[in-house]
Amino acid sequence: MEPLALPPVAGPFVESLRSIGYSLESAVADVIDNSISANAKVIEVDTRWASGNPYLMISDNGHGMDESGLQSAMQLGSIGPSTRRNKTDLGRFGMGLKTASFSQCKKLTVISRMKTNTPWKGICWDLDFVEKKNEWLAQKLSEGEVKRKLEALNFSFEQGTAVIWNRFDKIIDLTAPHAEKDYERSIRSLKEHLALTYHRFLKGENSHGKISLRVNGREVDAKDPFALYPPDKCSSSTLLTNEIIRLGEKNILVKAYQIPHPSQMPHDFQQRVSPGGNHHLGQGIYIYRAGRLISAGGWMRLAKASEANKLARIHVEFENDADDIWKIDVKKSRVELPSSLREQLRRVVSACSLKSSRTFTRRAKMKSTDKSPVWDRYFDRERERVLYKLNTKHPALSTVFAEMPERYSKTLINLLEQTLPLELIKNDISATNIEVGQANSDLQKNVAELANQFHLSGFSKDIVRESILGDGNIAINAKTLEEILNNIWG
Ligand SMILES: Nc1ncnc2c1ncn2[C@@H]1O[C@H](COP(=O)(O)OP(=O)(O)O)[C@@H](O)[C@H]1O
Ligand SMILES: [Mg+2]
Repeated sequence: MEPLALPPVAGPFVESLRSIGYSLESAVADVIDNSISANAKVIEVDTRWASGNPYLMISDNGHGMDESGLQSAMQLGSIGPSTRRNKTDLGRFGMGLKTASFSQCKKLTVISRMKTNTPWKGICWDLDFVEKKNEWLAQKLSEGEVKRKLEALNFSFEQGTAVIWNRFDKIIDLTAPHAEKDYERSIRSLKEHLALTYHRFLKGENSHGKISLRVNGREVDAKDPFALYPPDKCSSSTLLTNEIIRLGEKNILVKAYQIPHPSQMPHDFQQRVSPGGNHHLGQGIYIYRAGRLISAGGWMRLAKASEANKLARIHVEFENDADDIWKIDVKKSRVELPSSLREQLRRVVSACSLKSSRTFTRRAKMKSTDKSPVWDRYFDRERERVLYKLNTKHPALSTVFAEMPERYSKTLINLLEQTLPLELIKNDISATNIEVGQANSDLQKNVAELANQFHLSGFSKDIVRESILGDGNIAINAKTLEEILNNIWG
């Protein structure tokens, strides 16, 4: 056999490279990873609609590249996955810069310099040009072109790198009537995504030190799913476990937290902790690679998303030398939990979720100290669900039902139990800006009316106090209730 060179044909190869499936968020994050690896302390994302010809620039004040560095950076696969990388390097396949950029736009320009006294260098990939020539032909920018481009884009760093995307054709349909609005919406959600993905860098929690990230000149505020930086007077999260799990030679850091109950968090802080302030959506496992978030929330089949688990958050962290066991993909947006870790993590997850659900049960108990509640709570083990049934032995209910033919009372009980809007109540409790309360707005007046009806029906004051209107059943304090009862019974 003799070797036969069969390099990929540039034109069709470009198209398949472009469809790797990055989102705008994961593509920008892949470019920002490079800035962080280049030890940048300030990273800026600037974007303009530019009358339907939008561009986006990601610039940094990192160590930059000299001409040969820039050339290999622009080459596909120049630094493969087997290359030994510095611990803080967020790179992986030597592809990110190109694949992330091509997934969003047709023209990628990178301008960089390493030292302040050297000229800036620029190289551009124009995919229309590549397709036309059917060859991997990049284009070198002249000194004048580089200078004009940096001036036009208001590039402000003395050294570092600018990655510029032109000719977007993937994120939005530029011809759609609301294209500009769609574009702005994408940029807003990009900002949210970056606030979460880099939250540990934004807070200076990693060995890299603190970075400042700006989107269109505005500082990105960290979103912290573990609620570790609560505002004044807000309770803080509880660290439940902090352990290192060994996987062969590699160490995986696992920390389990219980975040404070939503009632203990101000509204705007909740927004910083969970998506849309909804803790239900934020529960689960957060996986970090070298300090950068790769996978946000969800239980990876180790537990179920539930109201009871919504305060449970697990932090799992591995270094960039463990990529092969995590099966990390090119986009760095998906990892697979190594099967050897799964069982060990299951133990941590169950302990954390137990603690989270106890907080809810305890709160529920605190509110219902009644000896004989109107509603009984049952846990259906087989179907793993909670049911609420009317307690027909409750003095008020049993008296009322005794007055009715049994078929009516049964129908009524069934109707009430079947139509209790649990899903709606659950949603309202999760939607943290809505306060959920009993239906009565003028509680005192309503309690007095109710007590009067019991009086007229022949109930004794003691029964009404102990079993019907006691503070477990209705949110009214004992002293006010006593006054109401005294007014009626004397
Ligand atoms: N902002 C930057 N500053 C300095 N060097 C960079 C920057 N962006 C990319 N590079 C260089 O280009 C190389 C290729 O980047 P990329 O295609 O993203 O692959 P990877 O990050 O996996 O190495 C990087 O390893 C780095 O040497
Ligand atoms: Mg990279």
